Amino acid sequence: MTRGVLFMTVLLAMAAPVIGSAASKPDVPATPAEFKAGETKFKAHCQVCHGERGMGTQQGPPFVHKIYEPNHHGDAAFQRAAALGVRAHHWQFGNMPKISSVTPADVDEIIKYVRWLQRQAGIY
Ligand code: HEC
Repeated sequence: MTRGVLFMTVLLAMAAPVIGSAASKPDVPATPAEFKAGETKFKAHCQVCHGERGMGTQQGPPFVHKIYEPNHHGDAAFQRAAALGVRAHHWQFGNMPKISSVTPADVDEIIKYVRWLQRQAGIY
């Protein structure tokens, strides 16, 4: 009996890191319920360029980056970007088109999600 329990414990200890890495990206825990709405909208409207969990792609910069912390790019910059688009100035990705599929309320949700990602990464 004791040996059986010990064996199970060893097995679980070995499996835990594998299960952990399959469940989520490194260093970022599962998205809390309060940021889920923003995550869904981010995925639908922004992720194609700004990347999964804001990590960036070939088409657009990462939001998990010092440049986009609240003191450099406040919430108004996000609203402005979605409403008007962005002329390329920080990077070499080209311009961002305006995203007419989102409302200001959608962008508010997206901002909350992005700020959470930034805090998880220790950016502010
Ligand atoms: C088609 C690709 C694309 C999509 C989709 C896109 N972006 Fe962008 N975004 C860019 C690029 C490229 C830049 C970088 C421009 C530059 O060089 O500074 C950018 C920059 C930004 C910036 C920085 C603005 C500034 O003042 O410097 C914000 C904020 C932003 N995007 C928000 C969003 C949000 C929110 C969404 C979804 C609603 C979104 N983007 C969707 C391509 C995109």
